[in-house]
Amino acid sequence: MKNFKKLFTPLKIGNITLKNRITLAPMFLCYGNKDGTVSEKMVEFYARRAKAGVSLLVVEASAVDAKGAGSPRMIRVDEDRFIPGLRRLAGAIKDAGGYAVLQIYHGGRYSLTPVAPSPVETYLTPETKIIPKEMTGDEIKDVINKFGEAAKRAKKAGFDGVEIHGATGYLLVQFISPRTNKRTDEYGGSLQNRMKFPLEVVASVRKQVGKDYLVGYRFMPDEWLPDGVTLNEGKILAKRLERAGIDYLSCNTGTYESWALPEVMKLTAKPGYQVDIIHEIKKEAKIPVFTNGRITTPELAEEIIASGKADAVALARPLFADPEFVQKTMEGKSDRIVKCMNDWICMRNTTQGMDAVCSQWKKSESSA
Ligand SMILES: Cc1cc2nc3c(=O)[nH]c(=O)nc-3n(C[C@H](O)[C@H](O)[C@H](O)COP(=O)(O)O)c2cc1C
Repeated sequence: MKNFKKLFTPLKIGNITLKNRITLAPMFLCYGNKDGTVSEKMVEFYARRAKAGVSLLVVEASAVDAKGAGSPRMIRVDEDRFIPGLRRLAGAIKDAGGYAVLQIYHGGRYSLTPVAPSPVETYLTPETKIIPKEMTGDEIKDVINKFGEAAKRAKKAGFDGVEIHGATGYLLVQFISPRTNKRTDEYGGSLQNRMKFPLEVVASVRKQVGKDYLVGYRFMPDEWLPDGVTLNEGKILAKRLERAGIDYLSCNTGTYESWALPEVMKLTAKPGYQVDIIHEIKKEAKIPVFTNGRITTPELAEEIIASGKADAVALARPLFADPEFVQKTMEGKSDRIVKCMNDWICMRNTTQGMDAVCSQWKKSESSA
């Protein structure tokens, strides 16, 4: 049997200890019900991966504000009526042996009702060209409060922690990035000012959940765009988040806009394409850092952990393609893992409002 010693070494994060270094990165799968509640299919999806040995499962983006949701099928955490479904989901993950974390989200200019720090055109394709509404000071305060209230609900629902979504180009990144933040008030201009909104979100969440509750942050180290957030700024933000009481950073580099560039598309096809850049954040932070991006085999994951480039791996599509990825690794059957082919069929479906599926599922005997 191959040696996966480091991968199966426990890791302490905040007040919890993971049994291994393999975590599920959040994936919006379009499995939620149209009213924002948790569906049975979601419960089964997460429980299956927890049962097969994933140590910490970050449940996909859940909207802190109905208007901030990215899709009618995104789950919501903005009202108490969503707590029973969320409780069932957290309970199923925990019963299956995993830690349950809920990602809390506001899409900003990518929301159903697009808002942003500044009215900068959002351009993905000619059909999706929009100008978001500039947020007022009161609207900013309202969203900050909503993140805190959402975290409190997640705690009430039995989740072991929350992960603040501060990556992928959603609202928190829109404030940090000079491309999308043209404000002249205290939330715009210098990096200090651009960091104010995410840091106030963190403070609001901490205030609502207390100092002992797990609070992670989905973190963008570098925007990978010439006029965007630089790695140097990313390093400064990482340290500020740590000081503000964040327990771990789960990194994901770039945004929708950078990923669409031909040179970035070429880069992101390579296994482990983010490991070195995320290592730069790991060098700065004392809190655990999760690395990400086409970590398609446990052999690569072991190498990353053994080399000290990250403390844990956050896998999305590899665990989607093969729910039993961890179990097969533990049983010495890593050669039987069904690999993600990087065809993005999973995401393509969700952008069209359809349930995510994987082109490889026949091979892994999975239908979710
Ligand atoms: C269908 C799909 C949905 C995703 N949804 C989320 C999400 O809700 N929150 C998030 O932070 N990242 C999301 N991501 C990004 C993944 O967590 C991950 O960072 C990315 O897929 C690269 O990792 P991988 O190569 O292991 O898939 C999503 C990715 C895919 C493919």
